[in-house]
This record gives sequence, structure tokens and C-alpha cells, in this order.
Amino acid sequence: MAKITSEIGNDFCPQALFLYGNWKEDGTPNFGLFCWFSYVHIADGEDEGLGAMACIGEEKLTKDLIRKNGVFSANLVTEKLLPLADYYGNVSGRETPDKMKLLPTVERGRVLDVPTIAESPVSFELKVLQELPLAKGSDLFLCKICNVTLEEELRKNTPFPERLRLAAPIITSGEQSYNSLTGEYLGKWGEPQRKLF
Ligand SMILES: Cc1cc2nc3c(=O)[nH]c(=O)nc-3n(C[C@H](O)[C@H](O)[C@H](O)COP(=O)(O)O)c2cc1C
Repeated sequence: MAKITSEIGNDFCPQALFLYGNWKEDGTPNFGLFCWFSYVHIADGEDEGLGAMACIGEEKLTKDLIRKNGVFSANLVTEKLLPLADYYGNVSGRETPDKMKLLPTVERGRVLDVPTIAESPVSFELKVLQELPLAKGSDLFLCKICNVTLEEELRKNTPFPERLRLAAPIITSGEQSYNSLTGEYLGKWGEPQRKLF
């Protein structure tokens, strides 16, 4: 089959969604929804191993707090968490002081002082090692993974396909839609939050 030249896009790099969490100055949590998250091999002078990278475009509360605190959590979004995650991704923390009127069950990180989400089956506790400015408003945060908490059933002794089925992560792409890992369509960005109101 012939290949065609196409517009540049990321449709075929589907990304799992994560909720980044941080403490605001008043000690309450803030969460934002992010998909430009992946892993890197990283060293900090003490340890070397799997790290994470987060690309954050435009100035926003999550970026303010990551810069201020130097740490944040990344919590995997599941089908159950999708309405709340969609809400956190479409409401600006800077412009909406009561954004966090809707909350998941918030826990404290076990190693870093970050808020984590009990309903998320996988939570990373991340420490920023480096911030790289990439373009106007676009910054890449390279992070050390200081801890990860996992629902017990997702431990490595369960076969990987079964662990994926149990975790039920949501993926998204340049199409601005949410899909399950099996390709089921779960709505356009901005739609799942309607279930909350
Ligand atoms: C599906 C989805 C994925 C998103 N991924 C990113 C991302 O990777 N990087 C980014 O800068 N913003 C991303 N956003 C936008 C942020 O979630 C949005 O700016 C939100 O307001 C951030 O929360 P905050 O204002 O409390 O910081 C995404 C939004 C949606 C709906």
C-alpha cells in the first residue's frame, strides 16, 4: 500500500493520561490533567535509572507549583477517574479559585511531600532535576522518580496483559478524544466531565 505525505501530528503516539498533583500555598491540593508524559534514563549524581519527563505548555498553576516546590505527583487516569480528570484538564487553576471544589481521595506521598490520588492505581512521586525551555511557553521537566505506589493486584506477578486490563488506563491523541486501550471511544475532551454536574 502506498504511503502519503501527511500533516505533522501525534495521532499515532497515543499517550496515557496522568493527573499531576501539587500543594498550593495554603496547603490544599491542586490537580491538572496531562498527557505529554514519558520516561527517560536519567542520573542525578547519586542514582541512575528510570526517570520521567513532562512537557508543560503555557503558563498555568501546575507549572507555577512545580517550579515553586520542585516536586509533583503523576497519577495514572483510569476509566473511573476520567470525568474528574477531564474536569481538571479543562478548568484553569489560575483563573478558577474554587477549581478544587471537586476532589478525589487525596493522600500524601510516601517519600516526597506531594498529594497523590487514592483512586488512581499508579502514583509516581517526582523530583525535578532539570527544566528545559523548548519554545515560547513550552517547558520540559526532567524528573527523578523518587517513589511509585501501585495497587497490589498490579504487581509484577500478574501477567502484563491482565495488569493492563485491571489498570484500565485512558489514552488520548491529536484527535482530542479519549479512548480505552482496546480502542473504545470515550468522548471528546470536555465531554466526560458532564457526568459530574
Ligand atoms: C486530555 C488533556 C491532556 C492535556 N495534556 C496536557 C499536557 O501534556 N501539557 C500541558 O501543558 N497541558 C495539558 N493539558 C491542559 C491542562 O490540563 C490544563 O491547562 C489545566 O488547566 C491544568 O491545570 P491547572 O490550570 O490547575 O494547572 C491537557 C488537557 C487535556 C484535556
